[in-house]
Amino acid sequence: MECIIRPDAQSAGNLVARIIAEDLRAKPDMVLGLATGRTMESLYQILVDMHKKEKLDFSLCRTFNLDEYVGLSASDTQSYRYYMNHHLFKRVNIDLRNTHLPDGMAADPDAESRRYDESIAAAGGIDLQLLGIGRTGHLGFNEPLSALKSRTRVKALSPITMAQNGPLFDDPKRMPHRAITMGIGTILEARRCILLATGEEKAAIIAKAIEGPITAMVSASALQWHPKCTVVVDEAAASKLTETDYYRWIFANEPEWKRFQ
Ligand code: GLP
Repeated sequence: MECIIRPDAQSAGNLVARIIAEDLRAKPDMVLGLATGRTMESLYQILVDMHKKEKLDFSLCRTFNLDEYVGLSASDTQSYRYYMNHHLFKRVNIDLRNTHLPDGMAADPDAESRRYDESIAAAGGIDLQLLGIGRTGHLGFNEPLSALKSRTRVKALSPITMAQNGPLFDDPKRMPHRAITMGIGTILEARRCILLATGEEKAAIIAKAIEGPITAMVSASALQWHPKCTVVVDEAAASKLTETDYYRWIFANEPEWKRFQ
């Protein structure tokens, strides 16, 4: 795992966008794993700008999102399908047929979860998985005690997550208590993972996830198993890490990072 610290949220988002753009240019039909949440909104804006100004081409790109609320349809403004269409898909030249999220309205959510894992495998697996982190340390909606080998499935949302995401709903009581989420095992199969976290409210959970023990209580700590995982944080989210001098040295000196400076 590498941890890259950038001065602010904008430059953290810029770095992640440049990594995605570089991969997309190298492999135009790449399979991109996508995330939702407030943190990703500015990243998607940067990608939209790159599409407009630098002709970043999404026409062959295939995407799989981490999760979707159970019981929300694609047209529901609080669904993650709606979020993705609004923030990214309808603003770049992606073929909507190549974009995938679990179906929150599936009659059989367990069967839908299995189908979702199978379709990721059929696409050849995920090349780059973008991740945020929730206050419980969740990736997707892998709440505390999610098995580190879990597959896509239905998860009940924790009270902390209900409180974190409830305000995003026009009526917080409408927030579903369950979601279909890629499992930790599914996420760890991606060839590369990039976690983006910004803001002081993420500092404590980032420190636990990166420098703490691997534990099902903090599902993001499972990324320590991943052979190619990059965590990009701003100064605020890095404020409770202990080895920051080492992380800064790597970004300033390692050849892989030179071109991003
Ligand atoms: C939701 C998503 C997570 C995401 C989290 C972070 O809970 N299911 O995948 O990491 O939001 O949200 P925010 O960026 O708003 O802090």
